[in-house]
Amino acid sequence: MSLKNTPLRWGAVAQLLHWVVVWAILTQFLLAEAAEELPAGVGKLATLARHKSVGISILLLVVLRLAWKQYNRGHSPALPANLKPYEVWLARLTHHGLYALLLLLPLSGWLMSSAKNYPVSWFGIGPALPDLVSPSDTLFVLLKATHEVLANLLIVLALLHVAGALVHHFIKRDDVVRRMLPFARNAAARITVMLVCVVAGGLGLARLLPGDMAGSTAATDSAQGTTTNTDAGANTASVWVTDRTRSTLEFVFTQAGAATTGRFSAFSADVDFTPGTIPVGRLAVRIEMNSADTADAGRNEQLGSVDLFNVAGHPQATYDATAFTAQPDGSYRAEGSLTLRGVSVPVPLQMRFTPEGDEAVLQGTASLDRLAFGVGQGEWKSTEWIAAEVKVAFNVRLVKRR
Ligand code: HEM
Repeated sequence: MSLKNTPLRWGAVAQLLHWVVVWAILTQFLLAEAAEELPAGVGKLATLARHKSVGISILLLVVLRLAWKQYNRGHSPALPANLKPYEVWLARLTHHGLYALLLLLPLSGWLMSSAKNYPVSWFGIGPALPDLVSPSDTLFVLLKATHEVLANLLIVLALLHVAGALVHHFIKRDDVVRRMLPFARNAAARITVMLVCVVAGGLGLARLLPGDMAGSTAATDSAQGTTTNTDAGANTASVWVTDRTRSTLEFVFTQAGAATTGRFSAFSADVDFTPGTIPVGRLAVRIEMNSADTADAGRNEQLGSVDLFNVAGHPQATYDATAFTAQPDGSYRAEGSLTLRGVSVPVPLQMRFTPEGDEAVLQGTASLDRLAFGVGQGEWKSTEWIAAEVKVAFNVRLVKRR
């Protein structure tokens, strides 16, 4: 069989793309169905992450298929000449409709994920795909409904497509189906190839469906820091206090291979800091844990649960640093301790302190292991879908306390 199409048969490339996309579409529906059945949690997240990755693969494969079709233009199989005009119309409608849906469905899914602030990663490989829109609840609801309608339309067109193939094969008895099958002239080879494809497809599916979760979820145990209930002294008298409206505190976690940003809206930093080659002072931060916002109400609620932030048991996190070292580039390293969920663990900060008259800007970053604080109990301990490392970035506008 040649790679390229001929007027009599689809070539190997067109056939491969056709059957892989068929398999991927079936997988998509199974994954979506499985995700719908699952309660909110790591299993659902993992199943939807696989759904998204397979969906993005479909988008790429369909673009490739269209490009290949264009490249083979003029020497590909045509519709049989004996079709009635309405049959030609129906065939064109289903083919064009299927191509359009296989482009629009993944795009609507990608848009929907962006609107919910769930950046999309392709099987966790490489950087996450860019967000197509900013987070918006209204847009998410609209796109979710669109995705659902397009998926239902795809079912209708796919059924029409299969019905058409069956009519060609069993009623018209032409070679429309055979020319899309490998080894069309050798029945034994055809059956062998089909069986190999079914087994390989089944094995691939078994890897993607949530059933394999229990086996592959490697629960990561991490040493816990010392438990303490002491307030880290966030209320000490300070030279600088936070102007909350002009300050941001963000945390970036990696979910299903894609970096996702959340923000704390309620926090304050009291800063008593004298910059220089031997910097001295104190940095005391207090964060209201129930102010965490990831632009998705469901995920915010989950984040506050006893398995993650445990907001009910530990409503506040504090950070306290009293040792600073000047860095050659003019920044500072703060040696401080973060108390989260009642667990205190040393977390160094890289920060820049820029006085501007009666105001100052404190910017910086830190990186921490969520499991060291017990943020992730039960199924959330696994780092397969939510990485252990969380990055923190802050940009705090300080005003002089009078
Ligand atoms: C041809 C490709 C695709 C097909 C056939 C497909 C099909 C489906 C179906 C049938 C559902 C269930 C809809 C419902 O009844 O609620 C669903 C849900 C979903 N799909 Fe897709 N999808 C595709 C691509 C994508 C892509 C590329 C993404 C994201 C990058 C995506 C993201 C989602 C999400 C997040 C949901 C769950 C929505 C929710 O319940 O919150 N889909 N998809």
